[in-house]
Amino acid sequence: MSRPDCAKSRRRGSGTEPVSGYKPLKNKVFIKSYGCQMNVYDSARMADTLAPHGFVATDTPDDADLIVLNTCHIREKAAEKVFSDLGRMRLIRESRAHRGASTMIAVAGCVAQAEGAELAARAPFVDIVLGPQTYHRLPELVARARRAREHVERRRRAAIVDTEFPVEAKFDHLPEPTASGPTAFLSVQEGCDKFCTFCVVPYTRGAEYSRPVADVLREARGLVARGAREITLLGQNVNAYHGVDPRGGASSLGGLIRALADIPGLDRIRYTTSHPRDMNEELILAHRDVPQLMPFLHLPIQSGADRVLADMNRGHTRDDYRRIIDRLRAVRPDIAISSDFIVGYPGETDTEFAESVALVDGVGFIQAYSFKYSKRPGTPAAGALNQVPEPVKAERLAILQAALDRSQERFNLACVGRTMDVLLTGPGRHPGQLVGRSPYLQPVHVVAEGAAVGDIATLVIVAREARSLAAARPGREDASAA
Ligand code: SAH
Ligand code: SF4
Ligand code: F3S
Repeated sequence: MSRPDCAKSRRRGSGTEPVSGYKPLKNKVFIKSYGCQMNVYDSARMADTLAPHGFVATDTPDDADLIVLNTCHIREKAAEKVFSDLGRMRLIRESRAHRGASTMIAVAGCVAQAEGAELAARAPFVDIVLGPQTYHRLPELVARARRAREHVERRRRAAIVDTEFPVEAKFDHLPEPTASGPTAFLSVQEGCDKFCTFCVVPYTRGAEYSRPVADVLREARGLVARGAREITLLGQNVNAYHGVDPRGGASSLGGLIRALADIPGLDRIRYTTSHPRDMNEELILAHRDVPQLMPFLHLPIQSGADRVLADMNRGHTRDDYRRIIDRLRAVRPDIAISSDFIVGYPGETDTEFAESVALVDGVGFIQAYSFKYSKRPGTPAAGALNQVPEPVKAERLAILQAALDRSQERFNLACVGRTMDVLLTGPGRHPGQLVGRSPYLQPVHVVAEGAAVGDIATLVIVAREARSLAAARPGREDASAA
């Protein structure tokens, strides 16, 4: 796996005009997302590119004419999981073939990018392999695969593999998104140049790229027009954002957030995932000045030990991280922090691990993701000789997760009795119940007569559940929300 060369190709493929070579019949497409929110966003945009070509989304592969597995490569055995899912998709294809229906199978996303050739060789029944930067070409690839199938039916045919890095071309050629609903994702930045020693993302997503401010604002206005009240800006390093602004300069993420805040009807803005190194003053001050910017920040730290952070090539210390949190809390006292941790990074000692646990207790994260270190092929840490044994990793993970659970519980408990604005996003578990999100991204359940999905309701938190809160209308605190 080599470092992507972004200057390599700017080939322009169309994503919007119907492609000659197949008729825009009503076809069904099933897209399964693995991995991060960017993959979820990408899946929605793939559906958008296919819609003008007659594809409608289905939520089961059983009746799909086109199956797209949008894969993630961040975890160990990611490729194995894809192969096992592909096995199931192959059976679906065979059973549909007996009924005279044909099924095309595409593998997209980060596994496709990293292991495209291996995939095509090991699963020759796959029709299309495409990377995260080329999915705007999906309709064209489908048309090519169909033509290949018609002409080379029953002979050995190879998958069409498209895993280049033509970054700008993708966003230039995607149609307007069609997603609707009170919350939406909007990808503003892609790729990563930081090369943390454990991470595969710079190899699968390519070099950092920021979309121009005008493009982001246009997409955001469209999302608001279709009902979005909350937009989450996405990027692997979203706070490294440096998009061209309308005057030809560069806008930081703080500047972009201020521009977005002028859009009438956009009530809530979030962003993820941030890197501590890019947490600049302009962004911190946006948390003070922009009321639409939610008081929640996901800021991965990975480890509480400076030696481990240095070895990981994170480029900051534990105290740098603490100073960022202190500064954020100075300007926005109620800001809630979540994070990512890795336990059992090569060479991590008991003492170093204890520093991660101490950091959890010190910062008071309101939630966090924690992972056992896993080797990603082609990354520097994968070759380290001082790998931590699996049982030690498992034990450390359990200890860290217990500390994180305690921290989350403390925060949720402190929320009981508080009044919060909750954006209602969908039906809850029980009849008449709705679920929404607090400013701190906690799921909140409520039974509130007259309230509807899309409302921002002012509610009192009446109880905490395992991973969520229960709320009621003010003055109705005794009403059961569960
Ligand atoms: N850009 C973000 C993180 C993106 S990857 C950042 O810099 O923090 C999401 C998370 O997956 C990481 O924060 C890390 O905790 C975890 N992760 C990535 N590679 C991993 C690996 N090889 N083993 C275990 N966890 C990993
Ligand atoms: Fe991976 Fe994040 Fe590090 Fe980039 S900054 S290499 S995405 S962990
Ligand atoms: Fe996974 Fe690629 Fe996202 S590896 S986490 S899908 S950037």
